Amino acid sequence: MNEITIKTPDDWHLHFRDGDILAETVAATARCFDRAIVMPNLAPPVRNAADAEAYKERILAARPEGSNFEPLMTLYLTDRTTAEDINEAAKAGIKAVKLYPAGATTNSDAAVTNIDGLADVFAALEANNMLLLVHGEVTDSHIDIFDREKEFIDQRMGPITQKYPTLKIVFEHITTKDAAEFVLAAGGNIGATITPQHLMLNRNDLLVGGIRPHNYCLPVLKRNIHQQALRDVVASGSDKFFLGTDSAPHEQAKKETACGCAGCYSAWAAIELYTQVFDELGALNKLEGFASLHGPKFYGLPENSGTITLLKESWTLPESITLPNGRPIIPFMAGSEVQWKLKS
Ligand code: NCD
Ligand code: ZN
Repeated sequence: MNEITIKTPDDWHLHFRDGDILAETVAATARCFDRAIVMPNLAPPVRNAADAEAYKERILAARPEGSNFEPLMTLYLTDRTTAEDINEAAKAGIKAVKLYPAGATTNSDAAVTNIDGLADVFAALEANNMLLLVHGEVTDSHIDIFDREKEFIDQRMGPITQKYPTLKIVFEHITTKDAAEFVLAAGGNIGATITPQHLMLNRNDLLVGGIRPHNYCLPVLKRNIHQQALRDVVASGSDKFFLGTDSAPHEQAKKETACGCAGCYSAWAAIELYTQVFDELGALNKLEGFASLHGPKFYGLPENSGTITLLKESWTLPESITLPNGRPIIPFMAGSEVQWKLKS
């Protein structure tokens, strides 16, 4: 197959950041996605409906001319989030809230230290048919970073799903065989997003032959057996798994430094890279489900009406991109050849 047309996809997990960078990040996503679940981990975070509405306006203002791209806003759960905040958010059309364990990742200092204290909030989510989006890693210092997702399943995810059996939960950016198996075995109210980097790479791509800061993200890349398990579940076509790039821009200087930030800026080629993976797996017929159908179904939203076409045509990702502030950012897979190209 040298050409594939699918319903216009959505990105169910994305970081736009804020300020003048929006001109870059919103355009990069809006080139092929109609909607995106926008992560709330700004500094300070998006904590209530008013914050989300204001942030949404800034994103809409940054859309390229003629774009109908729709940002789907989320709130950032803290220890102080109340059921009333959730009710207000539901009224404002907010679809989901994000649970970061405190200290798990970029700007997560304000996040939840005591999940058990959020019972009222989880009940309000369930009552309003809103989704809980979970960064599934424990942050205990004695737990090895490669085991933090598995540990989260045992300590947290299992108990939460038992206590709130109808709450819709997205296990975000899963990275392990354990998470894939957990989601497959769970009820229809549990889904998961998968990033391009966790399908394409494993921890050798981070550490062999020199440390590669642009492949560093959280949850960190795992062993190849985990990468293979993720590839297997997307190739299976299971509707519990859908596209979430976790495109997470950090300037070059913040990645290439003694203590570099986590996150891959993948928006420039995410849909093309996913297509390449499905092609490698002989599963191009499963791409549309993953990219365009399973997400809306899980969120209870309509599918997009348009289509996009990808051509099997190689092109090379730029080595560097200049941000609106004049500083460089290195896109995910910079300088590599990509086998599929979005037809403009
Ligand atoms: C994300 C970021 O930079 O905001 N980084 C990442 O490595 N994925 C945060 C996150 O989603 O964990
Ligand atoms: Zn993320």
